[in-house]
Amino acid sequence: SDITPLIAGNWKMNGLQAQMNEFQALGDKLATLENRNALVAICPPATLLAAMSEKGAVSGIATGGQDCHASPNGAHTGDISALMLKDAGAAYVIVGHSERRADHAETDAQVRAKAQAGIAAGLVPIICVGETRAEREAGKADAIVAGQLEGSVPDMASEAEIVIAYEPVWAIGTGLTPTNADIAQMHAGIRRLLVERFGARGQTIRILYGGSLKPANAKEILAVENVNGGLVGGASLLANDFFAIISAA
Ligand code: G3H
Repeated sequence: SDITPLIAGNWKMNGLQAQMNEFQALGDKLATLENRNALVAICPPATLLAAMSEKGAVSGIATGGQDCHASPNGAHTGDISALMLKDAGAAYVIVGHSERRADHAETDAQVRAKAQAGIAAGLVPIICVGETRAEREAGKADAIVAGQLEGSVPDMASEAEIVIAYEPVWAIGTGLTPTNADIAQMHAGIRRLLVERFGARGQTIRILYGGSLKPANAKEILAVENVNGGLVGGASLLANDFFAIISAA
C-alpha cells in the first residue's frame, strides 16, 4: 500500500525511570536502520511522557498518551487532558483501548469525545475497536466493530488525521492472533465503512492491527491488505523485539 505504516508501542501501565534505558536502546538501534519504512511511536505511562518525548525527538520516535479526558482542564482529579499530553510532547493519543472500555466502562460516546479532544489539542487519536471472544464466536464480530466505529469515530475525521486500531480483545496479551484471512476481512470491512463515511479521505486513514504482534508474526500480519501498521503491547517493552517489528514493516 502507499500508506506509510505506523508502528506504535503501547507500554500500558509499565515503565519506571529505569526503562528509559530500553527506550534509549531502541533509539540507538533505529539509528542503525538504513531504510526505515515505518513511522514509529511509543505511548508510555504519562510519568515518562515528557522525558521520552525529548529523547524521542532525537531518534525519530514520536510519543503518545494512552488516554485523555474529554475536557481541556478542570476539576477532574487524576485525569490528564489532551492539551497536557500535547504540552508534554505527544503527537498521538490512544482512545478507547479495550482495557479502558473494560476497566473504566468507557462508552463509544465517551471515546468519541476523547478523540475530539485529542484532535482539538493537535494530537492524532488512535481509536481502538475490537470484539470479544464471545462476540466472535456468536458471529457478531463485524457488527460489533461497525458499531464501535460508528459511535467512537468523530465527524471531525473528515478534516483531521485519525488512526484506527483493530484489536480483537481475545488476541490482546494472549499469544493468540486471528488468521490472516480474518484480519484481511475485518480490515477490509473497516476500510469500506471509513470510505462510506468519509469518501476518498477514508482511503488514507491508517488501520492498525493489534493483539499479540511479535517478531515471529509481524512480517506476515503487516503484509495483509489494509493493515497499515501495528499497535504493539508486550513486545514494545523490549527494544530488540520492537525493533524487529519495525524492521518487518
Ligand atoms: O495496545 C496494544 C494491544 O492491546 C496489544 O497488546 O501486543 O500485548 O497483545 P499485546
